[in-house]
Amino acid sequence: MTSNQGLKISDDQNSEKAGVRGGSLLEDFLLREKITAFDHERIPERVVHARGAGAHGYFEAYEDLSALTMAAPFSEKGKRTPVFTRFSTVAGSRGSADTPRDVRGFAVKFYTDAGVWDLVGNHIPVFFINDAIKFPDLIHAVKPEPHVEIPQAASAHDTFWDFASLSPEVSHMIMWVMSDRGLPRSFANMEGFGVHTWRLVDAKGGSRFVKFHWKPVKGVQSQVWDEAQKTAGKDADYQRRDMFESIERGDFLEWDLGIQVVEEKDEFAFDFDLLDDTKLIPEELVPVRIVGKMVLNRNPDNYFAETEQVAFCVSHVVPGIDFTNDPMLQGRLHSYLDTQLRRIGPNFAELPINRPLNPVSNNRRDGFAKNTINKGRVAYFPSALGGVHPMHQPQAVDAFRSYAEKVDGHKIRARSTSFTDYFTQATMFFNSLADWEKKHLIEAIAFELNQCETKAVPKAVMANLLVNIHPELAAGVAEQTGLDIEECKRVAPKPVVTEVAAPKEMPSGRL
Ligand code: HEM
Repeated sequence: MTSNQGLKISDDQNSEKAGVRGGSLLEDFLLREKITAFDHERIPERVVHARGAGAHGYFEAYEDLSALTMAAPFSEKGKRTPVFTRFSTVAGSRGSADTPRDVRGFAVKFYTDAGVWDLVGNHIPVFFINDAIKFPDLIHAVKPEPHVEIPQAASAHDTFWDFASLSPEVSHMIMWVMSDRGLPRSFANMEGFGVHTWRLVDAKGGSRFVKFHWKPVKGVQSQVWDEAQKTAGKDADYQRRDMFESIERGDFLEWDLGIQVVEEKDEFAFDFDLLDDTKLIPEELVPVRIVGKMVLNRNPDNYFAETEQVAFCVSHVVPGIDFTNDPMLQGRLHSYLDTQLRRIGPNFAELPINRPLNPVSNNRRDGFAKNTINKGRVAYFPSALGGVHPMHQPQAVDAFRSYAEKVDGHKIRARSTSFTDYFTQATMFFNSLADWEKKHLIEAIAFELNQCETKAVPKAVMANLLVNIHPELAAGVAEQTGLDIEECKRVAPKPVVTEVAAPKEMPSGRL
């Protein structure tokens, strides 16, 4: 055993004292090094998705997709790209249980030969809200109530249902989370989704819209509510243990990757807006094309170094993948880097789990915990003395260039009226369920609403959400909660309308 300075240590179990029963000496640098290292072991947990488990593996392309995208993982049939994937719950803290009713994060880091591409998705294809500026409100409502830090699990409490009842855009997502989908049996039994509409860009600069889907080879399976609660009590690590043990015995986790592609000319062909992440594209309208598979086949060697320090970010893209104007995606582009600068510091990209496999070369310098020893005297551009040059040459097709989307609009703080159909897809989801699935969904919502302490909250959920989704859903929940639907409609506060359409142009030309 050595110290951090490489000094051989004769005794790591007894501190140095002034006589065997004397005071400990300030001089004992080995005691201090051991204790200070321990004192600084924890870093801030993720502000959301704190509880997670990850594994290494690979992505293999089933076909050459270069007609659709230049993205490196799809450049030839059979090509393999290493990946690291982390699954998480959103609301609980790092030490919480694996099986509460919650959304699961499904974040995949592709170490491509053109740089790192992160597909940071969830296990549900839509999201609660459709403008990033509402995210802090949503998470403050979901997290434990601030005065008592209760409840810690992402289940029933007044603040979440209060927020939901006044924000009808949550309706579709609520259906998914309250259904059996909110209780996945294992990571291997979860679907994954990129959620937003992304862009694929080909080498000629052509672009089309895309939604990403992960389809588990072992099929989608859930726990039932009673089972999930018992599992949380008896084995809080149930899902991370299941993944770890599966991989150790060679029973690897596998997903097919599917894409739904929409050509640019069809952007407005649907009765919902592709930029609204509370909507999915029904597979009947645009079938999912299976284009590759992901296999997770190696456990991390160290939880902290890999699973805890991994930094996924929606802005980690490679040529061939680009953004759309989805206002949630746009906000996320800022949030992940910002939070990671605080969580793991300005040089997090140099950590082994985050480093790209291809060489990194630029004029970024210094900062806490810099690992790279940059050589030479030039750390700027332009320079005739050497140094790193950006790829200005037009022929450098493998360099990232943003898709040249035409942008033309007045600056305005508003949301498109094309985002205001809150209920059609929530109703579609309810109608798609088998009778026993509907029963579970109704029981789950009734359970949640019966937990609410403030009795006005369930009434608002009934009046502003459930009756607008489906009469059978409303009646079923009313029966199990004792809510009187007509009374709910009379007394419930009206939803807060945050969707502001663009006003007419004023004579001054200002909006
Ligand atoms: C994690 C913000 C919406 C999926 C995080 C983290 C932040 C964040 C700050 C912690 C990251 C870290 O500390 O490394 C936001 C904001 C959103 C948003 C501001 C909306 C504006 C979404 C959506 C999805 C999603 C819509 C799914 C498509 C994830 C996942 C993680 C995560 C999977 C965990 C990544 C990991 O395993 O390390 N998010 N998020 N988030 N978010 Fe979001």
